Amino acid sequence: MTMIEAGPPGEIRIAPSILSADFGQLGLDVKEVDPETDWLHVDVMDGHFVPNVSLGPPVVKSLRRYSDRFFDCHLMMTDPGRYLEDFRTVGANGCSVHVEVGHTAGLIDDMRSLGLRVGLAANPDTPFHEVAPFLGDIDLLLLMTVFPGFAGQSFIEDVLEKVEIARREIERNDLSLDLEVDGGIDVLTATRAVRAGANVLVAGSAIFGQSEPLLAASALRAAAYDGLQ
Ligand code: DX5
Ligand code: ZN
Repeated sequence: MTMIEAGPPGEIRIAPSILSADFGQLGLDVKEVDPETDWLHVDVMDGHFVPNVSLGPPVVKSLRRYSDRFFDCHLMMTDPGRYLEDFRTVGANGCSVHVEVGHTAGLIDDMRSLGLRVGLAANPDTPFHEVAPFLGDIDLLLLMTVFPGFAGQSFIEDVLEKVEIARREIERNDLSLDLEVDGGIDVLTATRAVRAGANVLVAGSAIFGQSEPLLAASALRAAAYDGLQ
């Protein structure tokens, strides 16, 4: 088990999503963006909760040889509880489970007892009140800005209002929690998401889909900081 820290909650973090990297040279792609990124966002899709299938624990295990970043594993799975321990064992640092799959309180307890940083994710059409009861028990709220399943989709603007509501609730209750957005994040939407209250920005296409991923990551970071002005 690795002792890699996420860092203090609330700071701007760029989390490249490996879904848009070249899986034939994943380790190299991940290393390339390392100097301009903070976490590594690992999208796990089970072909059931979402229509797509991506990767599982063996890939995370291999990636550990190429990166000492915080592995932020986004579990788009109907039954994430079955795999939490496996992901932890191979080097996941944080996992996010979707509130839509239910059993949320139990999954939070399971993640906590495995020593994982605890994330809760919500689809674009899931209302804030479904995640609100868990805010005090989690380390990260992941608000999806596309419907999960595929990289390269367009940012859903309506979610910005939910980001604003979440940030207000976090502050009102004096919670230390990261607020992550995922889907359609680029230099324009990054600024808007940070302005609305997000601090962790996941980006696939806007980093690995670019001809110069390292420069693209650096531009995204600058765009994120613009949102704090
Ligand atoms: C979507 C995934 C995202 C995705 C983001 O299901 O959860 O992490 O890879 O890709 P972009 O940034 O291309 O929307
Ligand atoms: Zn994701």
